[in-house]
Amino acid sequence: MARILITSAIPYINGIKHLGNLVGSQLPADLYARYQRGRGNEVMFLCATDEHGTPAELAAAKAGKPVAEYCADMYEIQADIAKRFGMSFDHFGRSSSEQNKKLTQHFAGKLDEAGLIREVTEKQIYSNADGRFLPDRYIEGTCPNCGYENARGDQCENCTKQLDPTDLIEPRSAISGSTDLEVRETKHLYLRQSAMKDQLDAWIDSKTDWPILTTSIAKKWLHDGDGLQDRGITRDLDWGVPVKKGDQDWPGMEGKVFYVWFDAPIEYIACAKEWADSTGKPDSEWERWWRTDKGADDVRYVQFMGKDNVPFHTLSFPATILGSGEPWKMVDHLKSFNYLNYDGGQFSTSQGRGVFMDQALEILPTDYWRWWLLSHAPESSDSEFTWENFQQSVNKDLADVLGNFVSRITKFCRSKFGEVVPEGGDFGERENALIDELTKRVRAYEAHMEAMDVRKSAQELRAIWVAGNEYLQAAAPWSTFKEDPKQAAAQVRLGLNLIRFYAVLSAPFIPYTSAKMLSAMNTLDTSWPDDVAAALNALPTGHDFTVPDVLFAKITDEQREEWQAKFAGKRG
Ligand code: 2FM
Ligand code: ZN
Repeated sequence: MARILITSAIPYINGIKHLGNLVGSQLPADLYARYQRGRGNEVMFLCATDEHGTPAELAAAKAGKPVAEYCADMYEIQADIAKRFGMSFDHFGRSSSEQNKKLTQHFAGKLDEAGLIREVTEKQIYSNADGRFLPDRYIEGTCPNCGYENARGDQCENCTKQLDPTDLIEPRSAISGSTDLEVRETKHLYLRQSAMKDQLDAWIDSKTDWPILTTSIAKKWLHDGDGLQDRGITRDLDWGVPVKKGDQDWPGMEGKVFYVWFDAPIEYIACAKEWADSTGKPDSEWERWWRTDKGADDVRYVQFMGKDNVPFHTLSFPATILGSGEPWKMVDHLKSFNYLNYDGGQFSTSQGRGVFMDQALEILPTDYWRWWLLSHAPESSDSEFTWENFQQSVNKDLADVLGNFVSRITKFCRSKFGEVVPEGGDFGERENALIDELTKRVRAYEAHMEAMDVRKSAQELRAIWVAGNEYLQAAAPWSTFKEDPKQAAAQVRLGLNLIRFYAVLSAPFIPYTSAKMLSAMNTLDTSWPDDVAAALNALPTGHDFTVPDVLFAKITDEQREEWQAKFAGKRG
């Protein structure tokens, strides 16, 4: 049994995620986790909320709540919605956990001992009225480019020009509105990534099976311009992991916290400890996933993320781990995604554009979304969600192909033989040809899933459904029944077994429907079809079943138009 560690990029705490976020990390990670469990492997699937940094502080201020309370509330909301989307995490943690605080401080201490941290004095804007330094986003003013009065210190939302806070005309604090601002010196810690450039380069070169999207981004950061730069890992904020070396104070760093991107990936590890602690397990249980000196040397570790996260996962986080000099498990395969666009533009959290996870489930069940998103995953290029395409894909793939197959065979059996697998003759040429075709296709499906080729896996699964439909159409038990009821019974027996077989294969994509199919077939047998012929005899003659309710309702043109209009504007 293989052991597979899977992490999905941890979503920012500030608000419910849109479908573009979902398809680039949590959803394909869940597909892979479910598949690997289905194959009988031992899986540890981890995710968490990313709770530190200015976005969390700003969102909390907007919600009128203390930031810790805001994060605790949003964590519950995100955990609930992830569950409703079928995310089968072994643990959904929080980057603000005590475990992550300790581990982040531990890593910083180790990096310092290794001489990989240096102090840098910088100039930043200080607000006298607020008694604090203001990060770029906390400074507002008039855009020098377009005159927009509410431009932020990092970027003008109106004309999109990238700004430096000192560019703003009449700058003011976004917290208090005060214009009593001054430039002050402040000290920060930098991780000496440049000193690890060759080590990182060699490590990336050793990953010959990584997607081009992943390695090309990493290589660009390593070699473009002046090459890999040292990176500031501290901030003048209240909310975050306090800067310490292990459990020791860090002279000169009082009142500062680590930068959110320093502690967020460390949460992948801390999350496993949270899992062990919350289930009363000893440390050895999580360490066997993460410490190569404690059993993790035979673990395969796979990460899932959108392309914007790749530099942090190929360079900064590995620099943290390698630099610590400790035997932590490093990523073996990094699957990254392009962007999913929404109906002619981008999904946008700040502009409330697109469909968000909670809204999606208000209009249709999870599996409709999971199927569309995964079968259109933005792998080789960006892809686009349109309502027309969604309607077509749901109606054709799910309703016409899979749903119709299940409904036809179960209803026909009920009408002629009752809700029981009928006794029939042996399989003939047509059945054997189907078994041969399915065997080839199942092996291809496995290969695509192993390679994390999400779209190809979906196409193969659909072809497996189509093969059953075509068989049923050609065998036509409703005609056979008139001359040869025994042969018709054999065809029906095969058809009913195909439902269980489809449920097992489809579970990673559409887990809720798969469970309904298994329940209708009255079976707990979820064994993987290593031997297709044997799998198609799993439900024996005399086995009871029930006709399930319609698995997938078709999306009507009226519904499509209604939703198109409903989601055309900004989220309220
Ligand atoms: O892009 C994002 O949503 C980040 N919150 C991802 C962090 S992944 C990792 F570092 F933990
Ligand atoms: Zn502007």
